[in-house]
Amino acid sequence: MRHGIYPGAPKYPFTPGYDIAGYIEKTGESVKEFKPGERVVALTQFGGYAQYVCVDKNIPIKIPDKMDLDAAVSLVLNYITAFQMIHSTARLKKGNTVLIHSAAGGVGTALLQLGKVMGLKIYGTASVMKHTIVEKYGFAIDYKNEDFVQRIKELEPEGLDAVFDPIGGDNWERSLKTLKKDGQLIGFGGLSMFNRDRLISNHLTVISTKENFIFYRVPVNNHEQLKENYTKLLKLYEEKLIDPIVGKILALEEVRTAHKLLSEGRIIGKIILNCS
Ligand SMILES: NC(=O)c1ccc[n+]([C@@H]2O[C@H](COP(=O)([O-])OP(=O)(O)OC[C@H]3O[C@@H](n4cnc5c(N)ncnc54)[C@H](OP(=O)(O)O)[C@@H]3O)[C@@H](O)[C@H]2O)c1
Repeated sequence: MRHGIYPGAPKYPFTPGYDIAGYIEKTGESVKEFKPGERVVALTQFGGYAQYVCVDKNIPIKIPDKMDLDAAVSLVLNYITAFQMIHSTARLKKGNTVLIHSAAGGVGTALLQLGKVMGLKIYGTASVMKHTIVEKYGFAIDYKNEDFVQRIKELEPEGLDAVFDPIGGDNWERSLKTLKKDGQLIGFGGLSMFNRDRLISNHLTVISTKENFIFYRVPVNNHEQLKENYTKLLKLYEEKLIDPIVGKILALEEVRTAHKLLSEGRIIGKIILNCS
């Protein structure tokens, strides 16, 4: 989004910020669903880097009174994405084998935790310094120093049921080689291709023709489905089955640092911007 190539993003200048948590300050005259002071989260897609955000009444989701706002906001984009990819896109079952790329990232750590809840056998690629977190949930692969395709061939000779891949480009081609015949590659980002926008769409068009490949996009306008998923995630959180990892909390004024840390891959889990 920062590079101006996010599909559907407004023209510059615009305010980014995909997911937020906070308090209802004021409602429109006809709004009966919310009252000032209530605590909510929302998937805004844009505009979240702000002290006040105006959204349609269908967008906010109420959260429990005592719930920590940092945990609440962490569950929105990353966990809904991970939840839908595991349960709806890949339709995985207990005991299935999966590879999670960028496993120590925001979505990656959500996939690790939800995968463990489901009883999946998990492999995850990450930089060595982030292996401790991956090893809590599965087997860590140092993708920078070893060939993950070869490693999976050794560890799972029959291949995997699914691979979750936000890296894109050649990584998608290589991920396909780790699958069982009926396994699925779920692409959901293009971290390796962000500054070559034409290449992203060209490559996506080419790889989309492969029957084992599906590109997941969070359904930002399906508010009922998002609420339903979030409610299930809240239950898992209350039962202490998931626990979002917050790598850093920074003030809104420090947003440049936040983006620098993200682009240098120095964060495990999610960064939260405090806009109050
Ligand atoms: N499709 C959707 O609906 C959807 C929803 C949510 C997010 N996303 C996308 O999913 C992707 C991951 O999001 P996230 O929040 O989990 O990311 P993140 O927390 O910023 O994690 C990124 C991590 O990926 C690893 N990585 C591996 N290869 C990389 C490369 N070539 N370039 C950059 N990083 C690389 C790095 O960790 P190591 O140190 O381990 O290499 C880096 O720290 C993003 O592209 C995001 O836009 C898509």
